[in-house]
Amino acid sequence: MADLDGKRILLGVTGGIAAYKSADLMRRLRDAGAEVRVVMTAGAQEFVRPLTFQAVSGNPVHTSLLDPDAEAAMGHIELARWADVVLIAPASADVLARLAHGLADDLLSTLCLATDAPVAVAPAMNRLMWAHPATQANVRTLTERQVAIFGPGAGDQACGETGDGRMLEPLDLVAALGGVLPRPLLAGRYVLLTAGPTREAIDPVRYISNRSSGRMGFALAAAAARCGARVTLVAGPVNQPTPAGVERVDVESAEAMHQAVMQRVAECDIFVACAAVADYRAATPAEAKIKKQADTMDIALVRNPDILADVAARPQPPFTVGFAAETHDMQEHAEDKRRRKGLDMIAANWVGRPGSGFEAEDNALEVTWEGGGLSLGPEPKTRLAVGLMECIAERFAGRDDKERA
Ligand code: PMT
Repeated sequence: MADLDGKRILLGVTGGIAAYKSADLMRRLRDAGAEVRVVMTAGAQEFVRPLTFQAVSGNPVHTSLLDPDAEAAMGHIELARWADVVLIAPASADVLARLAHGLADDLLSTLCLATDAPVAVAPAMNRLMWAHPATQANVRTLTERQVAIFGPGAGDQACGETGDGRMLEPLDLVAALGGVLPRPLLAGRYVLLTAGPTREAIDPVRYISNRSSGRMGFALAAAAARCGARVTLVAGPVNQPTPAGVERVDVESAEAMHQAVMQRVAECDIFVACAAVADYRAATPAEAKIKKQADTMDIALVRNPDILADVAARPQPPFTVGFAAETHDMQEHAEDKRRRKGLDMIAANWVGRPGSGFEAEDNALEVTWEGGGLSLGPEPKTRLAVGLMECIAERFAGRDDKERA
């Protein structure tokens, strides 16, 4: 059972037959030591009466954004500030769409905009509604904004169909919630990260780059911020929203990324190099667009600076974590990179395979350090990032203790 002792959980209940399970969920959350307040949408109240939740929680249930009495007692902003985490279970297709589009026309959607606590959703709906491209696009948007998606599970549905769309069981939700709660493991620390690809100009309109979406690095930055660290993310050109509490520095080329990191590295405690930095750039990018002429063309390339190696080679390096993106002999190559570059830790992942590495929403990592290691995933990059950041925090604390002894 997750340790939710003393945690303040705002449980959002939306319209769906699974709403009847939310009363049991609330009981389980309270059994785990959490304090729970419930917000119900109008749709939810068609399935379960607020009195049910009031009786189990011992607190008034919040149902309306514009109720002067409720606002006088604990208004939507106070509720948003009160929560350590917001869990919406069940989360209907409608609420996923509202959150993805930033609507604020009822209490629950407004709260979700007004809180800086992590938000988790447990989708529950008919399998075709879940599979619909609109719902899937909304889920992708929410995932990119670091909303945790719990489930759904597969099985028999209330509508008589069978497939994906069942809300996860209350005990599974309680366990999953432990993974999204902020843990101040890195309070007072400064974490510097790189993410995304770099672009190396060939001429004013063309460049050399790669498939990195920035998902993995942005998820790591969000996880570091949730661990209480001050975080700077040096990002190549990607289309990712900046996680809450993260300072973002946008760069384009490897040289610009190198410069942005070197300007800040002396201050940082932990450096994580997740960017897919181009190893080479054009020796002399053309000033004007290169015209089509001969059948073949050669472009002279020169080596880019190795940001990770330069950080690790500093006289007093931060705790330095590299990534290894490999298409074959992953462990051997990763171990070679870790030793050669003098890293504290390396996280290796497969690339060029569907379902992991570049662009994918999920990933798996083989993490190694001198004398130890750990396998993480496969799972969504948002969750994987939490696991990796906790592992980094633990190893970093061990090194720090040794240095102080
Ligand atoms: O962005 P996503 O789509 O979510 O994909 C995630 C990812 C696959 C990009 C990520 O998980 C990952 O593997 N990042 C490292 C990619 C990479 O360039 O690996 P590499 O094995 O070529 O480089 C080894 C290490 O050196 C990396 O930490 C890299 O950031 C660093 N490096 C490399 C070259 C260079 N010039 N400077 C560097 O700092």
